[in-house]
Amino acid sequence: MTPVIAKTREELAAVRSGVRGTLALVPTMGALHEGHRSLIRRAREAAGTVAVSIFVNPLQFGPGEDLDRYPRTFAADLEACAAEGVDIVFAPTPEVMYPRAPMVTIEPGAMGRIVEGETRPGHFAGMLTVVAKLLNLVRPDVAVFGEKDAQQLAMIRRMVADLDVPVEIIGSPTVRELDGLALSSRNRYLAEDERRTALALSRALRAGADAAGDGPSAVTRAARRVLDEAAAAEPPLELDYLVLVDPSTFTEVAGDHTGPAVLAVAGRVGATHLIDNVPLELGKESR
Ligand code: PAF
Repeated sequence: MTPVIAKTREELAAVRSGVRGTLALVPTMGALHEGHRSLIRRAREAAGTVAVSIFVNPLQFGPGEDLDRYPRTFAADLEACAAEGVDIVFAPTPEVMYPRAPMVTIEPGAMGRIVEGETRPGHFAGMLTVVAKLLNLVRPDVAVFGEKDAQQLAMIRRMVADLDVPVEIIGSPTVRELDGLALSSRNRYLAEDERRTALALSRALRAGADAAGDGPSAVTRAARRVLDEAAAAEPPLELDYLVLVDPSTFTEVAGDHTGPAVLAVAGRVGATHLIDNVPLELGKESR
């Protein structure tokens, strides 16, 4: 079944007014892959009608980032949505989304300035602003986001709670290639040798997870060993951060922490910025 496509606010409002029962939204920037498809399937379990938004949000890209070369594959995205039985695709242009330069944006607070927010200043303000706009325009009952962007998910949960946005946020697990690489629209930038180096990210997370029973410093030590090797590889991995954080605040956990944590890593291979993470239960063997 081909989804109904809405490109303007008016078209979206018309389709939205015809929705009966519950509506789930999967916000995306397009270039859909199996990870997005798993979010769509999760959305289908949660609601009778599924909408996917496809919008490369200029506000969340910093100067010198990949806004211009970010993959735009609308025809293939529509095919993927049709194959997954998506009911509605909202695909606005930047002019539809931002008829004038926004003066009021969402200020993400302290969580927006740490970890990924330190590496990409302004990114989380732009991301939260567009997510708030999408939630207001589409008015879904639930919205589904990938756990691969763990800090993004934590910040969206916090925005929805702090601003009383009437939507349920669902996180959906990261989907990986057989060799462990987390699926990302940016993986298509990687040359073969760069992809080989990029595998160190998931290898480091696995090494960290295997040490979860031995406490926080053992986890980061095990992961760091793998990343140090990758830093000396050709092409090298340039590490942005490796942190072991509280899943809801993204602040680093104490040395004697037990219980839930997220081991998050980011780095550059060539010109490509990649992130990955693994949820852990510290003090216990992990999954
Ligand atoms: O994760 C993404 O693809 C984007 O950050 C999102 C949530 C669609 C907002 O532009």
